[in-house]
Amino acid sequence: MSTTFFKLISRGECKMPLFDCKVLNVPRISDPRGSLSFIEGGSHVPFDIKRVYYLYDVPGGSDRGSHAHRHLHQFIVAMSGSFDVILDDGESSNRFHLNRSYYGLYVCPMMWRYLDNFSSGAVCMVLASDYYDESDYIRDYSEFVSLSKGK
Ligand code: TYD
Repeated sequence: MSTTFFKLISRGECKMPLFDCKVLNVPRISDPRGSLSFIEGGSHVPFDIKRVYYLYDVPGGSDRGSHAHRHLHQFIVAMSGSFDVILDDGESSNRFHLNRSYYGLYVCPMMWRYLDNFSSGAVCMVLASDYYDESDYIRDYSEFVSLSKGK
């Protein structure tokens, strides 16, 4: 991702379509003792990181998400196991399968997300650009579609 793109996102001047929500590699340092990855806000993800949360003990067949955020940027990493993230911008959708801890999915604001297909023992870590704020959520899909079309 270019520096210009990072700057536009951090200034909130970039309305991002679905194709800008993409899988980004993070640094990976491997030697015979194992591997180490790290993620720095504004460098490996296009936002400053204010919060980390994680999903775990997800029962087989469960799903998560089903909402969008008005302003929040997120980066989703499969720290263990695997799962799918479906992103929907109100017009089209794309399914991403995450199964490695050296890459993650950048999710821009105003993107409906749905997570399913969790493997046994999966751990989903989410880096977020802001603190938890229920008023940032859009939990009704038809309201999301209307808002995303500017209606
Ligand atoms: P939610 O974001 O709806 O979970 P998911 O998208 O994975 O299904 O959050 C579930 C509950 O957890 C909800 O009551 C809000 C609460 N919560 C916090 O208190 N702090 C947080 O940082 C997050 C992400 C959720």
